[in-house]
Amino acid sequence: MSSIVLFGPPGAGKGTQAERIMQHTGMPQVSTGDMLRAALKAGTSVGLEAKKYMDAGQLVPDEVIIALIEDRIEQPDAANGVMFDGFPRTIPQAEALAKITEVSHVISIEVPDEEIVDRITGRFSCANCGMVFHDKFNPLPVDGCPGGEFEEKRRADDNEHTVRSRLNTYHEQTSPLAQWYGERGILHSIDGNRAIDLVTVDIIDALN
Ligand code: AP5
Repeated sequence: MSSIVLFGPPGAGKGTQAERIMQHTGMPQVSTGDMLRAALKAGTSVGLEAKKYMDAGQLVPDEVIIALIEDRIEQPDAANGVMFDGFPRTIPQAEALAKITEVSHVISIEVPDEEIVDRITGRFSCANCGMVFHDKFNPLPVDGCPGGEFEEKRRADDNEHTVRSRLNTYHEQTSPLAQWYGERGILHSIDGNRAIDLVTVDIIDALN
C-alpha cells in the first residue's frame, strides 16, 4: 500500500483538491485539521488541548498528531493507502510517517502569501456534507449544495490575524519539508494560483 501527501500553505486548496482527487483515486482523505476539529467538537482531551494551538495559529505538538495518525491508519478503509491533507507538517512527523506507511507522491500546491488571506477569510463550508466554498472564488451553486441540504459553517481560525500567524508557522516549520521530500524524489510542485479545475488536472497528471 502507498499513500499520497497533499502539502502546501493554509488556504492553498488542499481540502478542495482532496475532495476531487478522492473521486479519482478512491483513497480516503485524512485531514489532521478535520480530525482535531472533530475531537474538539466531541469534547475530548485531545481536542481541548489542540484548541489553544489552533486558535493561535500554531502547530499542535508532534506526539499528539502522530498518535492520531497511527490510530487512523489502522482503520479498514486505509488498507490500500490514504490521501493525507495537512500532514505531515514537520520533519519529525514526516520521519514518523515513513515508519508507518510508504508515500508515493507528495503534491505541493504552491500559492503566494498575498492570495492566502483572501482565500481563507472568504471560505465557508457545508456543515452537513463538508464541501468547501468561497464567497468569491468558489460560490455555492445557484441550485444549492451538491451534497444535499446546505448549512453554512465558518472556521474559528479563519480570521486575518490567525491566518497571518498560520502562514508564519508554515514558513518556519512546514515549508522545509518540501526540500526533505524533494531529496527523496517524490515531490511534485503544482501552481495552485489558477482556477480550481486546472489545478486538479495537473495533480491528476502528476499522480499518473
Ligand atoms: P488545517 O485544517 O489543516 O488548515 P490549513 O493547513 O491551515 O489548511 P486549510 O484547511 O486552511 O486550507 P486548504 O489548503 O485545505 O484550503 P481549502 O481547500 O479549504 O489545520 C488547522 C490547524 O490545525 C493548524 O493551524 C494547526 O494548529 C492544526 N494542525 C492540523 N494539522 C496539523 C499537523 N499535522 N501538525 C500540527 N498541527 C496541525 O481552500 C481555501 C479557500 O480557497 C476555500 O474557500 C476554497 O474554496 C478556495 N480555493 C481553493 N482553491 C482555489 C483556487 N485554485 N482559486 C481560488 N480559490 C480557491
